[in-house]
Amino acid sequence: MTGAAGRRGAGHAASAPRARRAAADASPAGNAAGVVAVRPARRGDLPQVTAIDATVTGLEKRDYWRSIYRRYGEPDHAGRHFLVADVDGRVVGFVIGEVRDWEFGSPPCGWVFAIDVKPDARQSGIGTRLLEAICAGFRRAGVRKVRTMLGRDNTLILSFFRSQGMMTGPFIPLEMDLGG
Ligand SMILES: CC(C)(COP(=O)(O)OP(=O)(O)OC[C@H]1O[C@@H](n2cnc3c(N)ncnc32)[C@H](O)[C@@H]1OP(=O)(O)O)[C@@H](O)C(=O)NCCC(=O)NCCS
Repeated sequence: MTGAAGRRGAGHAASAPRARRAAADASPAGNAAGVVAVRPARRGDLPQVTAIDATVTGLEKRDYWRSIYRRYGEPDHAGRHFLVADVDGRVVGFVIGEVRDWEFGSPPCGWVFAIDVKPDARQSGIGTRLLEAICAGFRRAGVRKVRTMLGRDNTLILSFFRSQGMMTGPFIPLEMDLGG
């Protein structure tokens, strides 16, 4: 992987911007006194996760988030990760992903499906911490590459992933209308 796992992961933590990391550790929103902890999601986090997602998508998808928790959040699912950034019990961001084996003809690699940080907690290193944490999980699972997919016009998420070292990959997304 060329991204967080490669440049900023275990053994390379010094390459993460120290000032921003310190800011994330101490003051995630620039106005909170708490420390950011990245940890596995708990069922009780779902209302806050749902609310953060709703700020991005405009939709409050409670059933969807319950099913995501069942699939990614419960501890017996090796290779699946649903992590939150927690500041004094307040969820300020989350990331979801899993290791997929040979899907799309690709050797096993980690896929990041979603990453969101609360608007008032952004640009203080929390997204970086979340990506580092999920990449550490992928590395523990034995994979050495991480992939994601993003909307062509979502320049914010593109800037973020590029800042972590991610580059255009070898796959091409295809689609068609199914009609009827
Ligand atoms: C993308 C996102 C996760 C970044 O979270 P964050 O906590 O603000 O990220 P960080 O503070 O760790 O920023 C890391 C780098 O990302 C880039 N970045 C972050 N916000 C940016 C912005 N508004 N404009 C340009 N680059 C930005 C920068 O390069 C930044 O490094 P720098 O601070 O040294 O300049 C957050 O903005 C977000 O949740 N956006 C909405 C996500 C979304 O659309 N999700 C749906 C698809 S999954």
